[in-house]
Amino acid sequence: MKAETAIGTVSWSRADMIAKLEAFSELYRRRPIPDNEGGMRSQHMFLTWFALQELQPQAVIESGVWLGQGTWLIESACPNAQIYCIDLNLDQIQYKPKQATYFNQDFATIDWNHLPKEDTVIFFDDHQNAYERVKTAKWFGFKHLMFEDNYPAFQGDCYSLKKVLMQMGHGSAGTHNPIKSIVKQKVKEVVGIKEHTLTEIRPNEVDAAYLKQNLEIYYEFPPIYKTALTRWGDAWNDERYPTPEPLLQTVEKEYQAVYQAEATSYNWICYAKLR
Ligand SMILES: C[S@@+](CC[C@H](N)C(=O)[O-])C[C@H]1O[C@@H](n2cnc3c(N)ncnc32)[C@H](O)[C@@H]1O
Repeated sequence: MKAETAIGTVSWSRADMIAKLEAFSELYRRRPIPDNEGGMRSQHMFLTWFALQELQPQAVIESGVWLGQGTWLIESACPNAQIYCIDLNLDQIQYKPKQATYFNQDFATIDWNHLPKEDTVIFFDDHQNAYERVKTAKWFGFKHLMFEDNYPAFQGDCYSLKKVLMQMGHGSAGTHNPIKSIVKQKVKEVVGIKEHTLTEIRPNEVDAAYLKQNLEIYYEFPPIYKTALTRWGDAWNDERYPTPEPLLQTVEKEYQAVYQAEATSYNWICYAKLR
C-alpha cells in the first residue's frame, strides 16, 4: 500500500497551527450546535478554521451543510467572504447566516462563472466521489479544495483522495467492510447520495497518476492527538493508516482536553491545490 500524506508544501507550519489551538478552543465553546452528531467536531473544525484563516479566500463554497455548524465556522474564519452553501436537504439546517446563498442541487450542476476561481475555497463534506470532485473543480477552473472525509483505504462510504493515493480502490474491491445494498438504499434515501459514490472502484495506479499530475499540493492535516485505536476500533498504525505526526502528544493545559476527548473523529482531512 502507498503511504503518501503530502505532495508539495503548504505555506504554514506545525508551529503556526499549535499556536492557534488555544484561541480556537475559546471559539469552539461558542459553537451554535453543541452536539454536532453527524458533522465535524473540534479537530476538523480547528483544522478547517485554521486553513481558511490562512487562505482568506474571497468566496467559500460549502458542499454538505448538515445542521450548519460548518457554515458558522466558515463565517467565523472569513467574516468578509461570500459563502455559498449546498445541501440536497436544506430543511435540516439550524444555523443559517443571512449573507450565505443556498442551493439544493449538486455542486457540479451550478453555474459558478461569477466567482473568483483562484480565490475561492471549496469545502467538500458531502460524501461524494472526491476524485470526480477534483476533475469537476478543475473543469470550472477552481484551485483550492478541502475534503473533510478523506477516508483511508478499506474504510468509509466514498472514494477519497487518500484512497486514490493508496491505490487500493473503493467498495467491495477495495474495502474489508463492503456496504450492504440495503444500507446503500437507506443512505441514498436519507441523504440523497448519488449512485457513483457507491460504485466499486478497482485498485489502480491511474487515478493516483492523474492526481499527481494535476495537484500542486495535497496536504493531509495532522491530527491534534492520535489515539491507540481508530474510530473503527483497530490499531491506528502507519502501515494501515498512514498519518502525519500529531500536533500534540499529551494534555498539559485545560484547553487541550477537548481535542483529546474528540480525537477519534479525525478523518485525514486534506487540502488540495490544483495546478
Ligand atoms: C456529514 S454531513 C455534513 C456535515 C457538516 N459539514 C458539519 O460538519 O456539520 C453530509 C451532508 O451532505 C449532504 N449531501 C449529500 N449529498 C450531497 C450532495 N451531492 N451535495 C451536497 N450535499 C450533499 C447531506 O444531506 C448531509 O447534510
